Amino acid sequence: MELPYVESYKIKMVETIKKSTREEREKWMKEANYNLFNLKSEQVFIDLITDSGTNAMSDRQWSAMMEGDESYAGARSYYRMKEAIADVTGFGYFLPTHQGRAAENVLFSSLIKSGDIIPGNSHFDTTKGHIEYRKAHAVDCTIDDAKNTELEIPFKGNVDLEKLEKTLSSHPKEKIPFIIVTVTNNTAGGQPVSMENVKGVAALAKKYGIKLLFDSARFAENAYFIKTREKGYADKSIREICREMFSYGDFMTMSAKKDAIVNIGGFVAFRDKTDWERAQMYAIMYEGFLTYGGMSGRDMNALAVGLYEGTEFDYLDTRIKQVAYLGKKLDEYGIPYQRPAGGHAIFLDAKKILKNVPKEEFIAQTLGVEIYLESGVRGVEIGALLADRDPETGINRFPALELLRLAIPRRVYTNNHMDYIAAAVKNVVDRSASITHGYKITRELPIMRHFTVELEPAK
Ligand code: F0G
Repeated sequence: MELPYVESYKIKMVETIKKSTREEREKWMKEANYNLFNLKSEQVFIDLITDSGTNAMSDRQWSAMMEGDESYAGARSYYRMKEAIADVTGFGYFLPTHQGRAAENVLFSSLIKSGDIIPGNSHFDTTKGHIEYRKAHAVDCTIDDAKNTELEIPFKGNVDLEKLEKTLSSHPKEKIPFIIVTVTNNTAGGQPVSMENVKGVAALAKKYGIKLLFDSARFAENAYFIKTREKGYADKSIREICREMFSYGDFMTMSAKKDAIVNIGGFVAFRDKTDWERAQMYAIMYEGFLTYGGMSGRDMNALAVGLYEGTEFDYLDTRIKQVAYLGKKLDEYGIPYQRPAGGHAIFLDAKKILKNVPKEEFIAQTLGVEIYLESGVRGVEIGALLADRDPETGINRFPALELLRLAIPRRVYTNNHMDYIAAAVKNVVDRSASITHGYKITRELPIMRHFTVELEPAK
């Protein structure tokens, strides 16, 4: 008999989580103005709002923290991080930052001007925010197949090379500071980008003389999918795949809170010294001196260890199969989600579940609230709230998909938790016909409103 997949670690420390009653949750949800971000974490039973910074560090990472060098300049921890980045990614220069969006802020400050065009695959919301804040435009060149949640294809996060070439050829080179490839493609459902696609993007970048940036938050999960799904990569190690992928790019921004399995941290890494030097001024202004950026020495040490642990096959196999396990449970109940299951999350197809809620009343948000009220499970909306208003017209943008993301933190929950989550979703689906109204906005910020938005029931 083939042995089943099993976690490649055992549990050394636990944290108690508390159940609550539906009445309690109704009161808390109202007090939180129907924004799941406004709940206190104690009011949440299983927290799937993000896989970012919510991961369990290993004994090795904790012990590395004890050896952190907190020197302002030239800390050992900086050099340890530098070595790990060079080893895992091949990039020789880097700037530490406190997280991914800070890496974007530093790099984009040195590269983006007003009126610029930045093509890519489903720019993440902070990425888009940092582009639009600089009065530049993010042009989404994701393949159209990503919008069909039922379609089962191996690399649904890919860039559409025709759309990309059209964008590159219709603007002067000076207006396009770089192309961005997000691995995995978070917004499209944690879907991977194939090496073939990366090579195609790199060839176009070269043809038009434009640089290539990897938004690398989940680069190791992407490499796992390349190894397990793409021809020619089965016998390559995850690290070989990562180094090959990064060899096609000029720089990377990293939110280490995901695939480096830490609670805080990030960096920008560069191939060219001149690019690195150009960004240094912004790193010092926004983050800190070059050898710590926004990080403490202990955090840089944990990150360095995490980059190695996060690129071990056995760990990734456990990780991604747990997400697939939740997907299989949902399949048993016939619940629609972005197929195939993503690397870090399941994205429920809210439009297919809540057919009677109008889009103006925020379908995915409504599903998120219902699942929380049902079970204490907290997901996050990837729909019209996240899409913000068009910065020029001020009109609400309604994306093709209304998704409710259930992001699974790394090394945190067991498959019993996955069973509970699936049952909670099923109960909401079973009574979905009676859910006919959603929410309306009572307060919002102009950019990235979903974090702080306040809502009230539409009826
Ligand atoms: N890029 C991607 C693809 C991301 O998913 C994130 C964060 C960032 C950049 C920004 O990194 O949070 O460290 O500043 N994603 C989190 C999420 C917040 O929940 O998906 P950050």
